Amino acid sequence: MINIPKGTKDVLPSQSHKWQFIENTARSVAKIFNLKELRTPTFEHTELFLRGVGETTDVVNKEMYTFEDKGGRSITLKPEGTAGAARLFIENGLYSGALPLKTYYITPCFRYERPQAGRLREFHQFGIEIFGSPAPETDAEVIFAASTFLNKLGVKNTELRLNSIGCRDCRKAYNQALREYFKPNLDKMCATCRTRFDKNPLRMLDCKEENCKKITSGAPKILDYLCPDCAAHFEKVKTLLSAQGVRYTVDPEIVRGLDYYTKTVFEFVSTDIGAQGTVCGGGRYDNLLEELGAASLPAIGFAAGIERLILLMDNTGVQFPEPDRPKIYLAGMDEPSRELAFKLCGGLRAHGINAECDLMGRSVKAQFKYADKIGARYAAAIGANEAESGVVNIKEMSTGESSAVKINEIYEYLIKR
Ligand code: HAM
Repeated sequence: MINIPKGTKDVLPSQSHKWQFIENTARSVAKIFNLKELRTPTFEHTELFLRGVGETTDVVNKEMYTFEDKGGRSITLKPEGTAGAARLFIENGLYSGALPLKTYYITPCFRYERPQAGRLREFHQFGIEIFGSPAPETDAEVIFAASTFLNKLGVKNTELRLNSIGCRDCRKAYNQALREYFKPNLDKMCATCRTRFDKNPLRMLDCKEENCKKITSGAPKILDYLCPDCAAHFEKVKTLLSAQGVRYTVDPEIVRGLDYYTKTVFEFVSTDIGAQGTVCGGGRYDNLLEELGAASLPAIGFAAGIERLILLMDNTGVQFPEPDRPKIYLAGMDEPSRELAFKLCGGLRAHGINAECDLMGRSVKAQFKYADKIGARYAAAIGANEAESGVVNIKEMSTGESSAVKINEIYEYLIKR
């Protein structure tokens, strides 16, 4: 027996309605926020993520699925959606179109992480990215879209944590303050933190080592180092969110795990799914396009993990809409009636009705048993008598009640129910 690879999951036919509900909700939110879908390849040149996501991140350092293809190119399975979306924007010259360009995607992502509840090696994201607007209204709109999405799903008890990590200018002053703070303690910190100290001290703040975390907790806070522009931007985002009735907590510890962020960063966090509680995260990335070698253009977005959402919804008893089930099962008693049932089924399907008939050569009794198992709402047995009279008895499975219905009026009968 060959088993599924570690950190991946099958979606069983009995569970796929949950995925469809989340994906349909994502698309319906995209529609009201006028976001257009983009799709990028599952793999990209490794360089895109090195430059985009950043060489000091865990994602790039430890978690990428990177391999050499047969042509000797270094290829990486996408660990997230933003870098590919930015590449798509640049490569297709979308600068010259209407800006801001508002996009979304639903995509698999791959990270070689230690699997645990809510943490997989292949997972799926619903993400949105808006290119071209520096305005704080865009930050508030993106966060409002995330909040609308969670509300429409019926997700309860998530907390929105909000922070600003400033622009390049604020970061210069802040990095210096961090280095001054960490320097005397550096020998007590892990090897990764020591490397990050030189390259990108901000990344030291998301180290998970207990010892490092203790030291980090007393570090200077970015909010005290924001330049006047970034501070005003952050204030405006907060005002706009409050005006929309979106509740948030300012959390100076939120720095996000990817290097491209500037200014606003945020996470929707739940305490109902264990250690991996962040169901949605995002922020502004005003320098990413420039860092990828293109003209500078501000952008902002978020991504929500679909598996984590399902885990959270299951754990907190959120009801998913019922999966589709057949409206009617038409059982055939003998060969000519089976043919008639098959034909009637086809006719009903052509009118958009979920109708079923026997594909197994079963007895009528066994066909009714199957109809019950698959949750058919109505069932009817067709035999020589029914074929001759042109009338069938349609039985409502949940009550056992039957109604005599003309064969050529089955559609009219069902459509009313
Ligand atoms: P991220 O925080 O790395 O951000 O991932 C976003 C979401 O993907 C997380 O909140 C979580 O729900 C889900 N996720 C991440 N890793 C895993 C995993 N190993 N297993 C299951 N779910 C996971 C980004 O990826 C950014 N690209 C978001 C963004 C878009 N920022 C701006 N635009």
